Amino acid sequence: MPLIAVLPGDGIGPEVTEQARRVLDTLNLELTYEEAPVGGAAYYSDGHPLPERTLDVARRADALLFGAVGDPRCDALERQFRPEQAILGLRKELELFANLRPARLFPGLEDASALKPEVAGAIDMVIVRELNGDVYFGEKGFRKTAAGRREGYDVMSYDEDEVARIARVGFETAKVRSGKLCSVDKANVLETSQLWRDVVIEVSAEFPEVELTHMYVDNAAMQLVRNPGQFDVIVTGNLFGDILSDQASMCAGSIGMLPSAALNGSGKGLYEPIHGSAPDIAGQGKANPCATILSAAMLLRHSLGIEEAADRIEAAVTAALVSGARTPDLGGTLTTSEMGDAVLKALG
Ligand code: NAD
Ligand code: IPM
Ligand code: MN
Repeated sequence: MPLIAVLPGDGIGPEVTEQARRVLDTLNLELTYEEAPVGGAAYYSDGHPLPERTLDVARRADALLFGAVGDPRCDALERQFRPEQAILGLRKELELFANLRPARLFPGLEDASALKPEVAGAIDMVIVRELNGDVYFGEKGFRKTAAGRREGYDVMSYDEDEVARIARVGFETAKVRSGKLCSVDKANVLETSQLWRDVVIEVSAEFPEVELTHMYVDNAAMQLVRNPGQFDVIVTGNLFGDILSDQASMCAGSIGMLPSAALNGSGKGLYEPIHGSAPDIAGQGKANPCATILSAAMLLRHSLGIEEAADRIEAAVTAALVSGARTPDLGGTLTTSEMGDAVLKALG
């Protein structure tokens, strides 16, 4: 029986994960679950944001359902003890280098989007974000300059193999969608990005059926707001993908709507909403659980191959939204668990 590691984490993480679990439980799939602490919660219970017992479950599991990590009380801790190290550590430890972040406007959410309804209505894209490299994992530190001033540094780098493997995921994703791939970089300024662009072009020879374009990240940020319908699949680095996906979420209605899958090519994956622990609304029942529920659907599809159940969950979220179910981020008044109820009701 497949084993799912459930890592609720901090803030709204446990609240949204609970709703995704209810949805999975209702489907009566043959799955086993093991829950483990992660993030600030794990720091306080076990002394480390990613304790050995959590890593052990993560390694044994067929897939991981992750809530969110982050706790303002931990902001002053030495970096290795901060909650965010848990998600970074899992991505690295399990070599989850490919992050799929689908952004689409669900029917009826035009008025929740920050964009004009007719502009927002066209949003249906996947951001393929590299997750194991870039400025996130380069050498970093603090030092004193020759003049005795404090200096912080984080080295941005990619090697060609790292770029080639994420490029292939981008092309494969585009191949089964519209056949259009847009690679986003900053090759006009950064050597890292010049290599990125060169390697993406080299890999494109393996995918003659996919039309490749390139865009600088600053322009991409602007185009996402001006005409998001032009994008189908975007492939980009770790930092640019992080920023552009938060932006795309708001174009599509709310950050509470975007799920994600972090994959390593083996079938195993970590599934989480793209949002964080939202300390400003934690514990108030205001969080939108849809992103996490949709992440559970991605888990069933990508790691367990249970396509039909994944489709059912996505259809139920759509039906709940069409029926008018809305949490406050979407302009409604439902609580997190009432939104879960609406999805369960639509599941029948
Ligand atoms: P955030 O995504 O937690 O919140 C940003 C804003 O969006 C807040 O106003 C929040 O209330 C709102 N929001 C987020 N999710 C929502 C939901 N499901 N429903 C309704 N509203 C929602 O980003 P932040 O405030 O910059 O970060 C808070 C903490 O989360 C930080 O510690 C950060 O490092 C962490 N973080 C973790 C992850 C992760 O675990 N993968 C992702 C992003 C941020
Ligand atoms: C995300 C988050 C993380 C990231 C942080 C919490 C490390 O913003 O999952 O999008 O930057 O990747
Ligand atoms: Mn982010």
